[in-house]
Amino acid sequence: MNQKAHWDKVYSTKPAEAVSWFAPHLETSLKLIHTASTNKDAAIIDIGGGESTLVDDLFIEGYRNLSVLDISQKAIDVAKGRMGQNANAIQWHCADITQACLPEAYFDIWHDRAVFHFLTKQSDRDRYVERVKRSVKHGGYVIMATFGPEGPTQCSDLDVERYDTQELHDQFGDSFELLQSSTEIHRTPMGTTQQFLYCFCRMK
Ligand SMILES: C[S@@+](CC[C@H](N)C(=O)[O-])C[C@H]1O[C@@H](n2cnc3c(N)ncnc32)[C@H](O)[C@@H]1O
Repeated sequence: MNQKAHWDKVYSTKPAEAVSWFAPHLETSLKLIHTASTNKDAAIIDIGGGESTLVDDLFIEGYRNLSVLDISQKAIDVAKGRMGQNANAIQWHCADITQACLPEAYFDIWHDRAVFHFLTKQSDRDRYVERVKRSVKHGGYVIMATFGPEGPTQCSDLDVERYDTQELHDQFGDSFELLQSSTEIHRTPMGTTQQFLYCFCRMK
């Protein structure tokens, strides 16, 4: 099964609150976005946003230049349905991030929670980083959350890569200044725990 079919099946068979990565609000992501910019015109993209409520929360706070990209149209449809009329103010992209065509030097903030770690081939990771470098403005911020060194080795029946701060920063290279990193324990709806690593960087 290809990646798109896999994720469409996940989102067709499980309610938003039943997936292991569910959190009612992405508190750490929101805090880091506030640290990056309180300017409500900041261009923000959520990569692999899925059905997460990050876009709703940012919209309610008044951010008005929001984009969500996901490989699954099913996930995008659920998020759009939840937002109702407000969804018309969001730029939605159904695409594989390793192939996506995004505007050049456009985004002030790039956010990814639990997507990059599914890229198990170096060639896909390189394509991802190329897209960050191309579409984030110089001086813009990159917020990455992956499974940490003690996180699971699989998610949604797919293998994942786990990272410590240095390993994740090495994937991005010298064009990115690491500002902060931290680990967080995520409690899944099934009652298990998963270690996440958050890295907050600035594009030089
Ligand atoms: C574990 S979920 C995380 C969802 C959301 N970021 C959150 O924290 O709730 C991974 C998401 O990445 C999407 N995804 C997986 N591979 C992708 C790719 N290559 N390009 C774009 N989206 C992808 C999936 O459809 C799914 O919505």
